[in-house]
Amino acid sequence: MSASPEILVHTEDSVMTITFNRVDKKNSLTAAMYGHLSDALDSAAGDAAVRVVVFQGHVLIFSAGNDIKDFLSVPPNDSDAPVFRFLRALSTFAKPLVAAVCGPAVGIGTTMLLHCDLVYAGDNAAFSLPFVNLGLCPEAGSSLLLPQLMGHQRAAEALLLGEPFTAETALELGLINRIVPPAEANALAQMQAKKLAAKPLSSLLETKRLMKMSNAPVVAGRIAEEISSFGRMLREPAAREAFTAFVEKRRPDFAKL
Ligand code: COA
Repeated sequence: MSASPEILVHTEDSVMTITFNRVDKKNSLTAAMYGHLSDALDSAAGDAAVRVVVFQGHVLIFSAGNDIKDFLSVPPNDSDAPVFRFLRALSTFAKPLVAAVCGPAVGIGTTMLLHCDLVYAGDNAAFSLPFVNLGLCPEAGSSLLLPQLMGHQRAAEALLLGEPFTAETALELGLINRIVPPAEANALAQMQAKKLAAKPLSSLLETKRLMKMSNAPVVAGRIAEEISSFGRMLREPAAREAFTAFVEKRRPDFAKL
C-alpha cells in the first residue's frame, strides 16, 4: 500500500483507521490523496486482518473537499482518475465503514458519508454541498442518495442552495448517528468499530450486502452519470470562474455566464 503523510493509515485490532492529515489546507483532497485513499480501501478489502474501516479528520476540520487548485491545474480527465477511483472503491466497499466528523465537511467530505454505515459527529461539524456555487453538479451518487435519505425538498435545499448545515440538522436528516463533543468523536467511532470488528465478519458482509443490494446498481449508474457531467462541467466557464475566484480570494461573478 502507498504511504503518505497526508493520508495516514493505521490498522489495530482489525480496524483500519484512515486519517485525513493535511490540516494546513483544511484537509482538502488532491489527486494524489485520492490515490492513497483508494489504495487503502483496496488493501482493506483484500486483507483478512481488516474487518472495519474508520475515516477521521482533525478535531477542527474533517475535509474541505476537493483541492480546488488541484482541480484547476489537473482536472480529472477520465473515469479512471483517482477521485473517481476512490468513489467507486468507497461505494462498493463490502466491509463496514465508520466515520468521525468534526468541523467543516465540504463537498465530498459530506457526500462520502452517504457510503458510510455509521457516522459520529462533533457538535462543531458543519456539512455543505456547494457544487452549484462552484459551477458543478453533485458527485458520489449524492444526487440519488440525498433525496432518498431526506426527501426531494430537503435535498434540494442542501444541493441547490449549497448552504452549510449543522450537526443537529444532519442528525434530524438521518445523515449521522449521534452528536458528541468534538474531542470524543474519534474515540466513539473507534469504540463502535471495535464492537463491529468483534462480530462475525460473514454476517456483517451479508447484512450490508442485503441492505444495499436493491440500490447498488442504481448507485453505480448514477455515480457514472455524475462523473460524466462533473468532468465536463469542471472545464466549463462557471467552474473556472468559481475556482479562479477561490484562488484569488474574491467572490465569483457568474453574471455573464
Ligand atoms: N482547496 C484548496 N485549498 C483549500 C481548500 C480547498 N477546497 N479549502 C481550504 N483551502 C486552503 C485555503 O486556500 C487556505 O490556504 P492558504 O493558507 O494558502 O491561503 C487554507 O486552506 C485555509 O483555508 P481558509 O479558507 O483560510 O480556512 P477557514 O477556516 O477560513 O475556512 C473552509 C475553512 C473549509 C470553510 C473554507 O476553507 C472553504 O470553504 N474551503 C473551500 C471548500 C470548497 O469549496 N471545496 C470544494 C468542494 S467541491
